[in-house]
Amino acid sequence: MERTLSIIKPDGVGKNIIGEVIKRFETNGIKIAAMKMIHLSKSQAQGFYAVHKERPFFDSLTDFMTSGPIVVMVLEGEDVIAKNRTLMGATNFKEAEEGTIRREYATDIEKNVVHGSDAPETAAFEIGYFFNELELHSR
Ligand code: CMP
Repeated sequence: MERTLSIIKPDGVGKNIIGEVIKRFETNGIKIAAMKMIHLSKSQAQGFYAVHKERPFFDSLTDFMTSGPIVVMVLEGEDVIAKNRTLMGATNFKEAEEGTIRREYATDIEKNVVHGSDAPETAAFEIGYFFNELELHSR
């Protein structure tokens, strides 16, 4: 059993596709162990994306992530980190496989609808950034 953090970014929330994204998780056997809607401050977004702080897109990315509410979820299941990344598609929607969330809904390399942890260590950090143990519900 594995856990990963999923975020529906401000563009995804703005496009009214929260349910569409969740449906893809549920129909692929992924369970939601925690979920909430929040609006990040700039410093909260900078803390979350601290690994990217030297990248040229850091300021723009953290502005975008504070531009509206986001939905943060903890997903649970066997091999869920990789499964979620397959469902999302490549970071750049132009390189994403047909039928993936980003291929269908992203408009930009930055405004790419969803985020998913890329490894067990980053998943542990990212889940802990938004949720405490009492908020996680294995089912
Ligand atoms: P995400 O998976 O959340 O991880 C970092 C985010 O930075 C990425 O999705 C995009 O939203 C954003 N981003 C913007 N420009 C780039 C880029 N050139 N390469 C990778 N990520 C980028």
